[in-house]
Amino acid sequence: THVVTENCINCKHTDCVEVCPVDCFHEGPNFLVIDPESCIDCTLCVAECPVGAIYPEDDVPAGQEQFLAINAELAPLWPVIDRKKPAMPDAKQWDGVPDKLKLLIR
Ligand code: F3S
Repeated sequence: THVVTENCINCKHTDCVEVCPVDCFHEGPNFLVIDPESCIDCTLCVAECPVGAIYPEDDVPAGQEQFLAINAELAPLWPVIDRKKPAMPDAKQWDGVPDKLKLLIR
């Protein structure tokens, strides 16, 4: 599977959802997750994310391994998103800010 990681939090650009052939993205208030049960590892979303938040599960950055479990946990709880929508209002300012996990709204 592929995994949405920390830099998506408070950015949520949603470009990723437009290319997903299996509609495996699910939307929360300030973050998206990939359903590991649906992802076919097509890799198309990786290049679409303007803030580089999506990784294959074997290549998740050190310290962000917990996002595998977070994606798996939240995907069944959040609705599918398959159309792009505006990014979060302060997306530019949040790009690259460390330790955003504590800001995740479930
Ligand atoms: Fe998040 Fe990047 Fe998609 S910021 S919503 S993973 S395009």
